[in-house]
Parts: sequence; structure tokens; C-alpha cells
Amino acid sequence: MSTDTATLVKKYGYLPEQVLPTVDLFAEIERLKKEKNAVLLAHYYQDSDIQDVADFIGDSLALAQKAEKTDADIIVFAGVHFMAETAKLLNPTKKVVIPDLNAGCSLADSCSPKDFKAFLAKYPDHIVISYINCSAEIKALSDIICTSSNVSKIIETLPPDQKIVFAPDRNLGAYITKKTGRPMVLWNGSCIVHEIFSEQKIVKLKEQHPNALVIAHPECEEQVLSHADFIGSTTGLLKYTQTNPAKEFIVATETGILYQMQKASPDKTFIPAPPDNSCACNDCPYMKLNTLEKVYLCMKNEVPEITIPEHLREDALRPLKRMLEISAKYGI
Ligand code: 13P
Ligand code: SF4
Repeated sequence: MSTDTATLVKKYGYLPEQVLPTVDLFAEIERLKKEKNAVLLAHYYQDSDIQDVADFIGDSLALAQKAEKTDADIIVFAGVHFMAETAKLLNPTKKVVIPDLNAGCSLADSCSPKDFKAFLAKYPDHIVISYINCSAEIKALSDIICTSSNVSKIIETLPPDQKIVFAPDRNLGAYITKKTGRPMVLWNGSCIVHEIFSEQKIVKLKEQHPNALVIAHPECEEQVLSHADFIGSTTGLLKYTQTNPAKEFIVATETGILYQMQKASPDKTFIPAPPDNSCACNDCPYMKLNTLEKVYLCMKNEVPEITIPEHLREDALRPLKRMLEISAKYGI
């Protein structure tokens, strides 16, 4: 074993090539779930095979709520690091594993605790609302966490004269300011996937499909959102395509969600919004690091595991709990 290989095995507990080509991954994952009393949670942006084998598929909020309540011994989190970390914050006695420890998030990476602390020092009389797409350290510096499903409601619950810092997504922040009329100091972060869409190409696509509705995630830029017939979280977008009688949708978010849209409405057409480059896909490179093989291996070997120092966990949990309380109060 070379030193590099030894280091990787030590870090991740396995190497992908350890899987024999003869393994029936679907059957093995089901067997391991029972044997280990494990639950497999997957975000809508995961590969379709992972969505098919998952016990629960959801957006960031639904996954956090599910992770908090589960009585499984092991939570296998097929999503990105901040999501698995959130599951561990909410349910610390469970073992939380993630298929690929490198599944990060450009938005979370755009906000370092050191810089954020210095930024907040300039706004001592502001409440700090942070989008769940951030590290535990950023959560610990925040007053309330939100997701794209509950952000409007959370902002509306604040007293009208309350000053607000919103982090880390400038696009979501700008959209919420427009929607609620509440000015907010915005951290300058963004998601590489939701900033890739081309307004010009969307306009052209609409001309070619005059009956299609444009639906978009609020992490998209203002010029893209301005063409949207509906803006919502991944769950919100999915529900909209199910209830709206339109037959064609241009979808401005990560392509993983199209799998559930098509499954729920087989008679409708879903067109991924075109990106601003020659690549034909809007895949999140972090989400797509997870593969069915890695899901199987992380269940089998119970690594890589998410761990959080206790002092950090307590501070990061507080604003998350506030989010879940507000969500529960308003049935979100
Ligand atoms: P939601 O799951 O809240 O829609 O967020 C989308 C996203 O970018 C997750 O990383
Ligand atoms: Fe982060 Fe964007 Fe990927 Fe979501 S889609 S995990 S916000 S990089």
C-alpha cells in the first residue's frame, strides 16, 4: 500500500475500488439498513439511484426535521457536509456518516468564521439570520438559522424596527428583502450552481416554449428570478409542478430535482434552465461527489463520521432550535 493510499484509507476508512463489481449495491444497502438500524436521508440534488434507495428525500429543512426525530442508530446523510453536520447538531447521540467527506458547498465556503466575526463587529445592534448552508462555526455566531422554505416567515416574525444581518447568500438575501420589504445587511456569498444560469438563454428558451412556466430557486441571481413565474425551495418547486396545470416547466435549480418532478408528473416536460457556458448540466459538483458505491461503503464501514466539539455544538444548536420552533409554530 503506497503512503497516499494508506493516508486515504486512514482518513475515509475505505477506498472506492474496494467494492467488488459483483456487489448488488441496492440489495446490500437495504440489508445494511436493517442490520445496523440505519436511516438513509438524501437531498433532492443527489443522483437518482441514491434517491431511489433513500428512506427519505427532502430539502434542507425537511431533512433537518427528519434527522432530529429519527430513532435510527446511524444516520447516513447523502447530501453535503453542512447538512450532515446539522443532523449531528440536532441528534448528537446518533452516529452520522456521509458518503464523501469532500462534499462541501461553495456558499458555506464563502463565509469563514474569522471574517464573519470581524464583519459582525460592525453591526452590534443587528440580529444575525444565517441560511442553513453554512458551517457549525457560522451557526454558532448566528441568532436564528433559516432555509429557503422558512426564511420569509422567520424574517416576518421579527419586530419591524429590528436591524438584520443576513448571511451567507446575497441572492437569497436580496430576494427576501424585495419580498418582505425588510432592508438587511448582506454577506457577499453565493452558490456556484445557482449563479450559472444565463438570463439571455432563458429568454430564448421561453420564446421557443411559450407555454412553459419558469420556476427558480431563490439562490439564483435577480435577473434570472425576474423571469420566474414561481420562486421556491426545492420542495416548493416540486409541489408547484404537481399542483400547477401547466405541462412544461423551465427549471432554474440543480438538475437532481428533475428526477422527482418527472416521477410525480410523468405527463409533463421539465427543461433544465440553460447555464451561462457550453456545459449542458447544472449539477452541483459537491452533491454529485456522493455515489451509490460510496453510500454502500460508508454504511458498511461507518466512516467518514461527522464529529463536532461539544462547546461548538451547544452554540450552533441554539439558533437551529429557534428555526425549528418557528417552523413548528407556523406548520412549515
Ligand atoms: P433547499 O434544499 O433548502 O431548497 O436548498 C437548496 C440547496 O442549495 C441545498 O444546498
Ligand atoms: Fe452548496 Fe449550491 Fe451545491 Fe447547494 S447547490 S450544496 S448551495 S454549492
